[in-house]
Amino acid sequence: MSVDVLVRGGTVVDSAWQGPADLWIRDGVVQALLRPGDRPDGAAAARVVDASGRLVLPGGVDPHCHVGFTSGEWTSLDDYRQCTTAAVFGGTTTIVDFAIPRPGQSPIDAAHRQRAKATEGLCDAALHACVVEWDDTTADQLRSLAADGIRTVKMFTTYRGETMADEDTILATMHALRGGDGMVVIHCESNPIVEDAQHRAQTRGGVDAGHMPDTRPELAETASVAAILAIAESQGAPVYFVHQSTPEAVELVAAARRRGLAAFTESVAHHLVLDETRYSGEEPERFVCCPPLRPAATVAALGRHLFTGEISTIGSDHCCYDLAQKRAHRHDVRQMPNGLPGVETRLPVVFSRYVVDQGLPLPRFVELTAANPARTNGLYPRKGSLMPGADADVVLWDPDARWQVTAADLHMATDYTPYEGMWLTGRPTTVLVGGRVVVDDGRLVDDRPLGRHLQAGPIDLRGLGWLGPAAPAHSDAAPAHSDTATAQPGPTPAG
Ligand code: URP
Ligand code: ZN
Ligand code: ZN
Ligand code: ZN
Repeated sequence: MSVDVLVRGGTVVDSAWQGPADLWIRDGVVQALLRPGDRPDGAAAARVVDASGRLVLPGGVDPHCHVGFTSGEWTSLDDYRQCTTAAVFGGTTTIVDFAIPRPGQSPIDAAHRQRAKATEGLCDAALHACVVEWDDTTADQLRSLAADGIRTVKMFTTYRGETMADEDTILATMHALRGGDGMVVIHCESNPIVEDAQHRAQTRGGVDAGHMPDTRPELAETASVAAILAIAESQGAPVYFVHQSTPEAVELVAAARRRGLAAFTESVAHHLVLDETRYSGEEPERFVCCPPLRPAATVAALGRHLFTGEISTIGSDHCCYDLAQKRAHRHDVRQMPNGLPGVETRLPVVFSRYVVDQGLPLPRFVELTAANPARTNGLYPRKGSLMPGADADVVLWDPDARWQVTAADLHMATDYTPYEGMWLTGRPTTVLVGGRVVVDDGRLVDDRPLGRHLQAGPIDLRGLGWLGPAAPAHSDAAPAHSDTATAQPGPTPAG
């Protein structure tokens, strides 16, 4: 028989509300928010979790997390167990990973293989599918994936020869998802501009890690976002831009949303907290990620968009490479593994730099890091909320804890953190997953792998602030691509 849990004495923070309240949990689900001290009718033997002096938050939802990700010659070092262990230590209780097909593999096969791993995790996980090339089976695969609860589809406009999709493929995928059954989530950097910048960098300063910013300029991002917005608009398809690092790109998306397109911005913690001076310091390879860290003025301007509502979510873009991997080709960023470890530090660095230092309201912090990522992934309000009926994934957060980040104290499967030595205020102390106390007082007390693969429901576009289409929706006339195996020829597969 499961014992009820009462989380008592804390300040509950949801995305729309904060105040003193107790939480009553049964069978892994929030039953009620209670007036402090009230005893719920029918809760007999209850385990009491003392939350006095703590904020009580819905567990974080990380919408952008690469687990054991293979790109070129590199594979990031964690598995589901390691990644979710680090996640829960950092207050995140749901991760959304990517099923990136290997060459020759179908999106559906990649997704089925990756989702089977979710049960190794300490917390729940959802998945983004990925389309690299369109063929006459792709539309059916997307329909079948959506029916199976995998509704978000990752695409890349860069990384030629790896995961880059051409614009025909992006348009065809958006067309297939235009009804709102799913959504393209896209990495936007104009590949021609990136490759040209890399070529120029090579003939000037070099392409070593210290020159990372020269190789992927801000213009590559804004140009690509504008092009992809136009395609989405032509199809009336929702679109979500991952790891936007420039305020110009965020503003393009916000303007499209005002015009009636369901378009959303994700930013990631490192672009909001670190700047490009890191590339002039020791070991710039520790900071090599795409897009690169930006100048301090860009970071500050990007951060202001957290307050205005123009940024919808904050992810980590977690990629667990270690220093040996980062160092191996540090003389040439084109051969380096891109990405930074961050699933464990996402919430603490954003809380400290934005809530504590700049007064970001607590409900907005929860909206950006839990509620909205749950909405964009069709998981809300089961995840990202503490309202009755939600999964009892609960974080007790000490808002005053002062601590210094060091890789030795973290749990990610790597030997470094880009935040080494940084002083932060605020951190999770106790974390419940499905009503079970998994981390208590900073120690792992329940390591049972009870993670589940989460099936996405419809994407909550209205909850994300989309007001609906401004113009008549896209007609269903056939586009210049194939929806079915028997229709016109599809776009030429990328060479
Ligand atoms: O640098 C990054 N972001 N690496 C991971 C792959 C991607 O582009 O998200
Ligand atoms: Zn990316
Ligand atoms: Zn990524
Ligand atoms: Zn069609």
